[in-house]
Amino acid sequence: MIAPAVLSALHVLVLALGLGAIFARGRRLRDLRRSPEDSVSLGRLFQADGLWGVAALLWITSGLLRVFGRFEKTPDFYLRNGFFWVKMALFGLVFAIEILPMITFIRWRIARSRGSAPAVGANLALLIALNDSELAIVLLIPFAAALMARGAWLF
Ligand code: HEM
Repeated sequence: MIAPAVLSALHVLVLALGLGAIFARGRRLRDLRRSPEDSVSLGRLFQADGLWGVAALLWITSGLLRVFGRFEKTPDFYLRNGFFWVKMALFGLVFAIEILPMITFIRWRIARSRGSAPAVGANLALLIALNDSELAIVLLIPFAAALMARGAWLF
């Protein structure tokens, strides 16, 4: 009883971490749009981005353990579950959108670690739009998850 409950609680708590991190990352990008040289905002952007990465790893580990760990339901309940695939498609979309921001922030970190100021101003508008779309999708996923958990579309 304890293990599935802890796994479930962890999985849902990651939502708070992930949602908070992607929201904060969007705020910091907007701060940088106002003042691209602001190194404090850049540092805080890296923090939010780091937490977003941790959330992704925790979602995947706790989620896959719940699918294949046989803690509560069989893997078949999910693999033959339309809303599980909707959820995985939404999560995959977040990953695809994340590729450009991830590469950009790695480049900015490297530039900063070498003591030079990263070219922050270059594509901020695009990064803000990508971040906002990821936030919107993360807000959608819990609805697919709740329908999935209740077996609303089993085949
Ligand atoms: C690889 C990624 C993921 C996998 C494999 C996964 C898998 C699962 C599984 C197996 C459950 C248990 C459902 C049940 O009780 O039968 C679950 C529940 C849930 N997942 Fe995920 N998940 C993933 C990512 C996410 C993400 C990114 C979010 C949020 C943005 C999320 C939000 C939720 C929520 C809110 C529930 C609880 C649903 C409910 O009981 O009503 N999951 N997930």
